Amino acid sequence: MGITVTPTGEACGAFIDGVDLTQPLTSADVEDIRQAWGQHHVIIFRDQKLSDDDLERVSASFGNLAIDPFVTSIPGREHMISIQREADETAAIFAEIWHADWTFKADPPFATCLYSIEIPPQGGDTLFSNQVLALEEMPADLRARLEGQLAIHSAKMGYSKKGSYGDKYESKSMEVIPSDEALEQETHPFIITHPVSGKQSIYGSAIAYIIGVSDMPQKEAMSLIMELQRWQVQEQFVYAHKWEENMLVMWDNRSVLHKATGGYEGYRRELHRTTISEKDGRPFAL
Ligand code: SIN
Repeated sequence: MGITVTPTGEACGAFIDGVDLTQPLTSADVEDIRQAWGQHHVIIFRDQKLSDDDLERVSASFGNLAIDPFVTSIPGREHMISIQREADETAAIFAEIWHADWTFKADPPFATCLYSIEIPPQGGDTLFSNQVLALEEMPADLRARLEGQLAIHSAKMGYSKKGSYGDKYESKSMEVIPSDEALEQETHPFIITHPVSGKQSIYGSAIAYIIGVSDMPQKEAMSLIMELQRWQVQEQFVYAHKWEENMLVMWDNRSVLHKATGGYEGYRRELHRTTISEKDGRPFAL
């Protein structure tokens, strides 16, 4: 029996049924899921009671597992972190800013997998913004200013010692390790081509982690980046994912931005996360 794919009916995302993720995936399943993923950007598996071993195995079916450079892994699971917030937590919500994961790296992970363990009765949605659609609908003059340009990415606003998750970030449940490595910079094109779907999309987002444009004065660059971000995250491009326990959501960092949201004060939330790099190390076609 093959998988069934049901689009969310929103700007992106599809539910995938007909597969039991506690069992090894066949190569046909992996290929079918890859195709659906390329088309819908965010894929959602419901009612899957997964152990951490299962989550690692499923993630590794699609590429190499990566290690979070700035967040301490779950003990004994170097490729997995816990996105966790206690009921009485007062620190800023982790990842409540639009971003694609680790675009500050030369070889960023193409995908992220997030599995829900404890979900509050309200709030805590994850938002996804479809960057293929945002590019398709972009005004020609804005697109012309981005074509052929390289964005400068860095983790410094988040993970340097002075960043938002730096020395002053006091979370009870997430151990962030700020470091000077966050000051490093990497460049990627603003517009990339997806190797599976062949579609073009906008890659990355202002602040987390785009901080400049190659060979452009900083004031002009920041104005362009902020204008771009206002375009990228408009409501018509956004799908708000509502979590249930035992859900696995996998998103493609090349074609969506994402952000966490709050609204669940007084409740605990816990999800386990892995990231996946392409086996050949090339996340997108140039
Ligand atoms: C993340 O950015 O990985 C976290 C998303 C969330 O907590 O909803």
